[in-house]
Amino acid sequence: MPDPTSNTITVTDNRTGKTVQLPIVDGTVRAMDFRQLRENNDDFGLMVYDPAFTNTAACRSQITFIDGDAGILEYRGYPIEQLAEKSTFLETAYLIIYGHLPDQAELDQWVRDITTHTFVHESIRKFMEGFRYDAHPMGMLISTVAALSTFYPEAHHVDDARSREIQTHRLIAKMPTLAAFAYRWVRGLPIVYPDNDLSYPGNFLSMLWKMSEAKYTPNPTLERAIDVLFILHADHEQNCSANAMRAVGSSRPDPYSATAAATAALYGPLHGGANEQVLWMLAEIGSASRIPEFVKKFKAGEGRLMGFGHRVYKNFDPRATIIKRIADEVLDMSEPHPLLDVAKELERIALEDDYFISRKLYPNVDFYSGIIYQALGFPVEMFPVLFAIPRTAGWIAQWREMITDPEQKIARPRQIYTGERKLDYVPMSAR
Ligand code: CMC
Repeated sequence: MPDPTSNTITVTDNRTGKTVQLPIVDGTVRAMDFRQLRENNDDFGLMVYDPAFTNTAACRSQITFIDGDAGILEYRGYPIEQLAEKSTFLETAYLIIYGHLPDQAELDQWVRDITTHTFVHESIRKFMEGFRYDAHPMGMLISTVAALSTFYPEAHHVDDARSREIQTHRLIAKMPTLAAFAYRWVRGLPIVYPDNDLSYPGNFLSMLWKMSEAKYTPNPTLERAIDVLFILHADHEQNCSANAMRAVGSSRPDPYSATAAATAALYGPLHGGANEQVLWMLAEIGSASRIPEFVKKFKAGEGRLMGFGHRVYKNFDPRATIIKRIADEVLDMSEPHPLLDVAKELERIALEDDYFISRKLYPNVDFYSGIIYQALGFPVEMFPVLFAIPRTAGWIAQWREMITDPEQKIARPRQIYTGERKLDYVPMSAR
């Protein structure tokens, strides 16, 4: 008769008949406990096989909670809907990194700390001028954020709390500057230096779009739209780029190098590059009449419906719901977007199709963000960059949590070796 109070699992190894009781803590079994199960004394012990970490918890974390079935996303316990309505990106970044909402004095100090670090060394600007005229801004961002480590050599003191603090300020402050410099370079426009009188999103817009005016005044609706988009993208627990930040950070390089790795992970079309792919896909479809033909292809496995599906959300993506509202506000202010109708019709058709319903594929955050970004005037290549800026707050929070977690060590998965063994070297003449 099972004992409902016992938080253990009994495992019998049918190869040997050995039975072990393994503790269950937080709905989880320790993978190392399985190593007790061996076929004989020379055996290494049982491992668990989990390519792509689909069922493996790699850390304990207090940063972001997701219930994928219920469509819930919370940062430090606060629902994303409330933060998107009431908070600012910088306040949310503080919350994500320090674990509590700041009081007024803490917030003022935090905003000051970020604002006074927005400039980058002039050599960074010159360094960026070395890129080709048509360089992808994400490639420029990955390289220049890595290059920051050469300007702050003390950043490798990752066990020094004060050093971690300063690098935190620098990373959050400088990412928009690097992103804007990359944008201006791609457009052939002169660099605009940070304006520290403006808000975090306002300054970013100024660095992007200021031309000959003495002072750039951001449109408040756009400034707020960018701020909310930043809040929505700030963290998403153990996604591919957060995992890259933690895995690379676990060998203890400086946080700029780890952030470059995380940014590279975000660049991929299955992660932060998806919003860029959504636009290419919508442009390729071109008109609502061609949607059935494309949906048929996606169902046959010829390409994917970009902006649909999520590893964790299997009901709806709460960020997509908020983004759809922002899309309406932004699109009301801008020129009619030719691909919006295609996107809406594609969403409608996919949501009624058995293929997508049975696989629980719904629009994710990227489905509408690309359309908003394009309506705001961003070239498609900038989309993943706009994701990387706010996600830096999440990466830093994940990195700081990992560095100070006594259970963490250098990340080093196991493998199942399936190759040849013990071959004798074959001379060239005999191959
Ligand atoms: N279009 C068509 N079929 C899909 C899609 C899609 N977008 N996504 C998943 N499927 C199918 C997939 O072919 C598989 O079908 P079957 O069971 O017949 O083999 C099934 O659904 C399960 O797919 P999976 O690849 O096992 O799912 P996953 O959890 O590994 O992948 C995903 C999640 C987000 C990578 C995937 O849904 C995808 O590639 N989506 C398109 C890219 C995208 O929009 N990415 C942005 C994610 S949200 C932003 C972020 O957090 O980065």
